[in-house]
Amino acid sequence: MSKVVYQGRSYERQDDETVLRCLLRNGIHVPYSCESGACQSCVMQVTSGEIPPNAQEDLKETQKSLGYFKPCVCKPEGDLEIIALDDAHKQKHQVTVVEKCFLNDEILRLRLACDEPLEYRAGQFINLFNGDLIRSYSLASLPGSDEMLELHIKRVPTGAMSNWLCDDVQVGDQLSIAGPMGECFYHEVDGEKGLLAVGSGSGLAPLWGVVRDALAQGFEKPIILCHGAMSAENLYYVDELRRLEKAHPNFSYFPCLSDVEASELPAGMFSGYPNDVAFAQQPTVAKWQIFLCGHPEMVDQTKRKAFLLGASLTDIHADPFVPASSA
Ligand SMILES: Cc1cc2nc3c(=O)[nH]c(=O)nc-3n(C[C@H](O)[C@H](O)[C@H](O)COP(=O)(O)OP(=O)(O)OC[C@H]3O[C@@H](n4cnc5c(N)ncnc54)[C@H](O)[C@@H]3O)c2cc1C
Ligand code: FES
Repeated sequence: MSKVVYQGRSYERQDDETVLRCLLRNGIHVPYSCESGACQSCVMQVTSGEIPPNAQEDLKETQKSLGYFKPCVCKPEGDLEIIALDDAHKQKHQVTVVEKCFLNDEILRLRLACDEPLEYRAGQFINLFNGDLIRSYSLASLPGSDEMLELHIKRVPTGAMSNWLCDDVQVGDQLSIAGPMGECFYHEVDGEKGLLAVGSGSGLAPLWGVVRDALAQGFEKPIILCHGAMSAENLYYVDELRRLEKAHPNFSYFPCLSDVEASELPAGMFSGYPNDVAFAQQPTVAKWQIFLCGHPEMVDQTKRKAFLLGASLTDIHADPFVPASSA
């Protein structure tokens, strides 16, 4: 048993309980979503005590040095004194919906104008708020090229946020976001041999940004993008990606269909999961920069396989679209 002092009041933390769960058990209202360290919506600041390294993973170095940490994955050895972040430190912004467009039956594209210039890299994510509801969405837009922030939202059956965005939010509405966050963006690395991007469903959002960012920065080595969906109707941005392929000979696009037999494939499409198609195209990935986004299981499996095929963990940038915790 150890102690958590939050905003000056002390609470007993049970063994094996996270700091977040301890606060919630004591009736304290704190923001959170994924409860797995992926979304950063719960980030707080420590003022005294030792934070285990896993609770600061993926935070910026400046944030780590200020004692920011993720209480949802934090089980400290000893006592902790912590405080909540104010809106400024949470990087909260107001945005206006300027375009709402369905890219297929289940994917909504939202374009948003930010009330102040937002510094971000294509592929990072923001947290979007609807009252107490918080969900993360990746930035598909490319700063300097796209005027608006662009999100691709997959409608999830019974999904609280995705259905609200698809059905209720209107052009002209104001929304609150926080961010940008995350490390899933193009990094220039010495000696890299290529860039492999693998995504499923709306996992194309960050990859659409990352690939265009790399090309805009003059990346000349091969770029392979494998985007997966069940059928051709579930894909999107096919024409846009084909145009990008024509304009850049080093870029190859592989639309992958998991539920379509090879004999029934539309022209130019591939049968199978995007990760399988990716490694069939590129069996060795040492010194390749790898981007993995979308379904958490696919991202996890592909990360392990990429590592076994020679990729360094520091070259693998993964954003599993972990759903919010239902606890
Ligand atoms: C870093 C990060 C980036 C993300 N980027 C994007 C993005 O760019 N685009 C995007 O569409 N989503 C993205 N997500 C996922 C997003 O944050 C939400 O989890 C998603 O929109 C579902 O929220 P919801 O409120 O509609 O559903 P909820 O109300 O949270 O869930 C309703 C039910 O559906 C289940 N569920 C949740 N997601 C799925 C799913 N994908 N498939 C099947 N069942 C599901 C839940 O377990 C629950 O039972 C990202 C997540 C993370 C952590
Ligand atoms: S990172 Fe803590 S709730 Fe998502």
